[in-house]
Amino acid sequence: MIGKICGTGSYIPSLVWDNEKLAQLVETDDEWIRERTGIARRHLIDGEETTSYMAAQAAGEALKDAGVRPEEVDLIVVATMSSQNIMPCTACEVQKVIGAVNAACFDLNAACTGFLFALNTAQAYIGQGIYKTAIVIGTESLSNMVNWDDRSTCILFGDGAGAVVLKASEDGKYSQVTYSDGSRGDVLTCSSRNQKKFEDEPRDESTYMQMDGGEVFKFAVSKVPEAVRELLDKEQMTTEEVSYYILHQANVRIVRSVAKRLGEKAEKFPTNMEEYGNTSSASIPILLDELNKKKTFQNGDFIVLSGFGGGLTYGASLIRW
Ligand code: COA
Repeated sequence: MIGKICGTGSYIPSLVWDNEKLAQLVETDDEWIRERTGIARRHLIDGEETTSYMAAQAAGEALKDAGVRPEEVDLIVVATMSSQNIMPCTACEVQKVIGAVNAACFDLNAACTGFLFALNTAQAYIGQGIYKTAIVIGTESLSNMVNWDDRSTCILFGDGAGAVVLKASEDGKYSQVTYSDGSRGDVLTCSSRNQKKFEDEPRDESTYMQMDGGEVFKFAVSKVPEAVRELLDKEQMTTEEVSYYILHQANVRIVRSVAKRLGEKAEKFPTNMEEYGNTSSASIPILLDELNKKKTFQNGDFIVLSGFGGGLTYGASLIRW
């Protein structure tokens, strides 16, 4: 038994900061950001929008797309590192909003690989026959963790949420590899939670994300292809059999480099970081939702999802649409 994706949804906040806006905050320019990252804009939470609000909107849309009633949901797993509350967890807040009264709900944090870990967790429950219907969500308000005076990080991140509904099915495919290297955790850190709105100053330095960009870049371009190859070898598949690779949307140069290292065409690697920047655990489900809505995938397509990020963590999953 596997959990087949039968619906997707996403929520993108409406406040948009383009590269010109950032050039008013720090010494940078649109050309540099586009060239080095592929990012042109990012969407940020505003007003009543929060990590759980976005998650609930994305989940509601995914349920609608799947034609599943909230009471049918057995499990909600939320991947996030930016919940506005420590307790209750974001998944419980989603449950309350959407009325999934029968669901068991919890959050997990594996930074930008979070969605894959959450998907693995839901697949394990379904595979064991414990649950039949699950919602898996990635949701982040990274604007609360970004130092908007630091040009080396603030250009990269944005906010948003994406969700998928899984239903137990005999027909389909799920396979995964995931890894963590805690010894390299200092490459990407944020040591305490920000309880203020992102514009509010002053802030404690410890609430800002710190990153060694070069090290993260090298880690991603070596480990992602390694994970994808291991996954395909495990399934005795070749890259030619994969229709699409949905990679974590951190940097277009990372995506291109992974495509090259796998000997694959760039067209098989759709991207949307130009519009949203890096939304961490939300980036893979947001892109999945966009492509699903565009009817990009055909029944039977093999799709590889791959993420990497803080921890350090990384992995790849194979699904059949
Ligand atoms: N605008 C203009 N110049 C900038 C800049 C900005 N926003 N940020 C850095 N620079 C400058 C640097 O100060 C440096 O100047 P110097 O040569 O005078 O010292 C120069 O540009 C090159 O900096 P460098 O850090 O080597 O650039 P890069 O090509 O490695 O790109 C990142 C930087 C952050 C875009 C890139 O390393 C990256 O994307 N890494 C991965 C980060 C990531 O994905 N993190 C999340 C993972 S989940």
